[in-house]
Amino acid sequence: MATASEIAAVGVIGAGQMGSGIAQLAAAAGCAVLLLDADPTALSRAVASISASLLRLAAKGQLSQAAYEDSIKRIRCVSTVQDLRDADLVIEAIVENEDVKKKLFVELDKITKSSAILASNTSSISITRLASSTKRPSQVIGMHFFNPPPIMKLIEIIRGADTTDEVFAAVKSFSERLGKSVICSQDYPGFIVNRILMPMINEAFWALYTGVATKEHIDTGMKLGTNHPMGPLQLADFIGLDVCLSVLRVLHSGLGDNKYSPCPLLVQYVDAGRLGKKRGLGVYSYG
Ligand code: CAA
Ligand code: NAD
Repeated sequence: MATASEIAAVGVIGAGQMGSGIAQLAAAAGCAVLLLDADPTALSRAVASISASLLRLAAKGQLSQAAYEDSIKRIRCVSTVQDLRDADLVIEAIVENEDVKKKLFVELDKITKSSAILASNTSSISITRLASSTKRPSQVIGMHFFNPPPIMKLIEIIRGADTTDEVFAAVKSFSERLGKSVICSQDYPGFIVNRILMPMINEAFWALYTGVATKEHIDTGMKLGTNHPMGPLQLADFIGLDVCLSVLRVLHSGLGDNKYSPCPLLVQYVDAGRLGKKRGLGVYSYG
């Protein structure tokens, strides 16, 4: 198994909001990146957004023109899981659905080299259960990035029941190589950050649903009243309402407490395809 400094090739699966940012970070850290998505249009959007994000960093003097070009060159878009066979580390960032993720882990287990570490960027799903779908549960780990990955300073690491100390140490130092601070969570639903954040977002939906105030007043209240960079409804749109709903459902079923029951308004928005900023419409609309 590769140590953090030996991780040379990184596979990223899911080229959405998170996967594109994770691919960017790994490329900027000098890794060869293989970026895979089931939807080819997601790959072209990801390449454009990575380029724009790197240019923003270059404009602030945080990246040279040469480093910008090298990072872009290190990212190769691929179309099948087989293309990831030589990766030292694979980071999965596909849809927040346990069955779909397990199916992918079964495939990854078959095609990646036996030394490869398999990581999930899941927001809430049990790492132990994802790991148990493979024959290498000791090499499966949660590597939870925050949105937007190039800017947010944290990675939350979650060990499954069988993750070894060696795998944990490699992923922790690799996270530091990406320039992030690390926290460690036990493998409980929603881990640390979403266990605390999602009930707040859900409560903001209840406040809107029950007519406590307008969306603007709820968000302004939390921005100016508690110094959050975004109000909770704006943040939900930014994360994706589908992701928020999936996480709340995992918290509700996994912790068995009605306080995590998703607000009907959030459910209705997701049913209506109002998934937030990425779709141009959520709580707010985006031009
Ligand atoms: N790439 C590169 N740079 C970026 C960027 C990106 N993708 N996004 C923002 N930036 C930079 C901007 O260039 C800007 O830099 P300067 O200040 O040096 O000019 C800076 O970040 C701030 O950006 P903006 O001025 O465009 O906008 P902003 O001040 O509103 O900040 C934000 C944007 C950083 C996203 C900020 O609003 C914020 O921190 N919001 C909260 C984000 C948050 O809570 N994320 C976690 C969500 S929970 C999660 O991720 C876990 C989960 O499982 C759901
Ligand atoms: P997204 O909807 O922006 O992107 C998901 C991508 O995965 C899409 O491009 C989709 O085509 C692709 N995909 C779906 N199933 C696939 C499969 N079987 N094989 C290959 N590609 C597939 O979602 P996102 O916001 O980037 O979230 C991805 C993961 O990251 C989820 O597990 C989510 O919970 C987690 N996460 C999200 C955030 C956030 O703020 N959005 C933060 C941290 C973690």
